[in-house]
Amino acid sequence: MTDHATTQSAELKEQVRQRYGQIAQGVLAGGNGSASCCGPANIELADGFSLDAVIPLQAASNCCGSSAATTTAGLLYGQNELTGLPESVTGAALGCGNPTAIAALRPGQTVLDLGSGGGIDCFLAARQVGPAGQVIGLDMTEAMLALAERNKASLGDAAANVRFVRGEIEAMPLPDGEVDVIISNCVINLSLDKDAVFREAFRVLRPGGYLAVSDTVALQPFSEEMRRDAAVWSACASGSLDVATYMARLHAAGFHPVQISDVTPTDFGLSEGVDDGAAAVAGELAGGLKSWIASAKIVAHKPLQN
Ligand SMILES: C[S@@+](CC[C@H](N)C(=O)[O-])C[C@H]1O[C@@H](n2cnc3c(N)ncnc32)[C@H](O)[C@@H]1O
Repeated sequence: MTDHATTQSAELKEQVRQRYGQIAQGVLAGGNGSASCCGPANIELADGFSLDAVIPLQAASNCCGSSAATTTAGLLYGQNELTGLPESVTGAALGCGNPTAIAALRPGQTVLDLGSGGGIDCFLAARQVGPAGQVIGLDMTEAMLALAERNKASLGDAAANVRFVRGEIEAMPLPDGEVDVIISNCVINLSLDKDAVFREAFRVLRPGGYLAVSDTVALQPFSEEMRRDAAVWSACASGSLDVATYMARLHAAGFHPVQISDVTPTDFGLSEGVDDGAAAVAGELAGGLKSWIASAKIVAHKPLQN
């Protein structure tokens, strides 16, 4: 079951890409990799991007005044985890949880991060799997990949075992059965075809591998109008599945057992963080974002034998 008709899906996906592209461009324009988000804009952009097109995020988010761009990371991660990560990593955190805290990663594992954004969870996973392991960050948005590559370069050897790949989570450009653990942070809700994501996740995992993700879940049904609204969808809101549906669709893809826990109504600090678009949406939804969505921990295993 796709989550929308095909033409609507294509349009909404493009709007999701644009939204996250603009956020990434804002972070790229606002810092030099190690400076704060108020830093100089003397940066190189990936092919096809020009500074003229950049939307200066700090102008819209007060991040220069209050360092609010670090607030989301500060809420989701422990200070010990954030130590050593530049602000262009922590300031680009757009998640709703901390997947590496639930994934029980071990040295030597191959980890795939779906919708890796600026790369924060990849860099945290890289520490846990060590030099014998590897981390693949998959994202469809060119500017996010450019930001992630810059962040990787600024981390040097600490990120030598991380690589970023351009692609869609509904059609992962990866071989069968080579991933030990899939992580993801607030991305699957954005997909227009979640069954394809779960099928692909099952395909690329090795037997006995598992998915350990943070994602949003719906606390009440979104109207069809809200589900068609690009702003509400791309703010990680109206694409969210309710818990029962999320479980059923993971089971249908072959995952067993599946566990969804720690369902926590939250606005992830979006009201004043890097993601002002989501803050605006939260203001428009009756009762605020917390009445509509929660963050949850989702763990689903690919059985050793089918
Ligand atoms: C809310 S951000 C989360 C980024 C990152 N996981 C984090 O925690 O900071 C969503 C990310 O998923 C990416 N994304 C959304 N839909 C995608 C899709 N269908 N395929 C690949 N990437 C996608 C966006 O480009 C964006 O970087």
